[in-house]
Amino acid sequence: MPRSVERLFSAHVDATVDAFGPGDGLTCFFSPGRVNLMGAHLDYNGGPVMPTAIDRGTFIAMRRRKDRVVRLGSTTEPDRFEVDLSDLAAAGGSKSHRKGSWLDYPLGVLLHELERRPEAPGIELFFGGNLQIGAGLSSSASICVGTALALARAWELESSSLDLVEAALWAERDYVGVQCGIMDPYAVGFSRPDHLLWLDCRDRTTAHLPLDADRVRIAVADTGVRRALAQGEFNRRVEECAGAYELLKQAHPQARCLRDIPREVFESEGGRLSEVQRLRAQHVIDEVERTHVARAGLERGDVALFGEQMSAAHQSLRELYEVSIPELDCLVEGALAWQGCLGARLTGAGFGGCIVVLLRADACDGFDEHLSRFFRARHGRDVPVALFGGDPGPREIEGPWRGAVA
Ligand code: GLA
Repeated sequence: MPRSVERLFSAHVDATVDAFGPGDGLTCFFSPGRVNLMGAHLDYNGGPVMPTAIDRGTFIAMRRRKDRVVRLGSTTEPDRFEVDLSDLAAAGGSKSHRKGSWLDYPLGVLLHELERRPEAPGIELFFGGNLQIGAGLSSSASICVGTALALARAWELESSSLDLVEAALWAERDYVGVQCGIMDPYAVGFSRPDHLLWLDCRDRTTAHLPLDADRVRIAVADTGVRRALAQGEFNRRVEECAGAYELLKQAHPQARCLRDIPREVFESEGGRLSEVQRLRAQHVIDEVERTHVARAGLERGDVALFGEQMSAAHQSLRELYEVSIPELDCLVEGALAWQGCLGARLTGAGFGGCIVVLLRADACDGFDEHLSRFFRARHGRDVPVALFGGDPGPREIEGPWRGAVA
């Protein structure tokens, strides 16, 4: 772990001690965020996706308690939460403790894991980190998978990576109530450095595809735009695709998801769809094909072909899926104007947040300044641009932690 991250963790431990007081037995965990390079909006349509975990993420300091009290806090949000596990268990799967804030993510995971250990002791969890929140880098999956790992240690649960992913998915879908696909927790829970994860969301099969860090690097630039309406727009896309699937399935009954609809069926039966459904389905069918082309390119070392698929995906996200905004388009345009940029597209759901860029490894110097200048010329402000490394996935970070003991 780089010294800079060690220092950040020490600061996180200090903040934990400030918030919860000193005491023995503080354990720290790191859980990464993710970027998705191909397979935009395919996970909830049963298609393939190609994300990778990044070396930015959530820091969690955890301490067991002798009583049954749970305390949650964070470096970035002022709200703290305290609850007795017996009260939480008595509420069962009900949502009576839901806060309507970030707290619901760790709370959902807690509730899920409590089922496995009803007599579990109390615990303190303090969150922080170096991942932009709400930027499309999956801070929520990072928190949820990291919480599941911390609980597995604290409560001596035997949790596989899949168990962590399932706990995270339950928290997001069934407790918080977001109709998200399966990509994000899988990207966090099944990551491997210098590899993209290939996840087929229809049958949940996975493969790790090498990404040669000597040849290519991943950069991310953040528009800084955060849309309150993004969640509603996201859910609307999920519904539009579900509607398109229901209609097209009538002509192809063996299909189990929109991804299963062959292009010929879409072309002959597209008249059944509304104009909006047609655009969304067109994106899905094209993007499935692009994602396979990108994988084939990567496997034979043709990173240029991979990059072309990313840029084509962005155009489709703008024109057919309608989830881009001028700031994202500007960043993609600026990135593509850089010699040595292989491809660029928005990452995450869209409507704001970040773009992801594939760069030739020998063309990284000066890219951040170029892109920020390009954006400033049009939008009058700078944007953060960073090269991201890969990450081995959620894990304990060894101490000893200064200041953890009184
Ligand atoms: C969000 C969702 C993911 C996925 C992407 C779009 O990030 O959380 O499940 O649908 O959008 O690819």
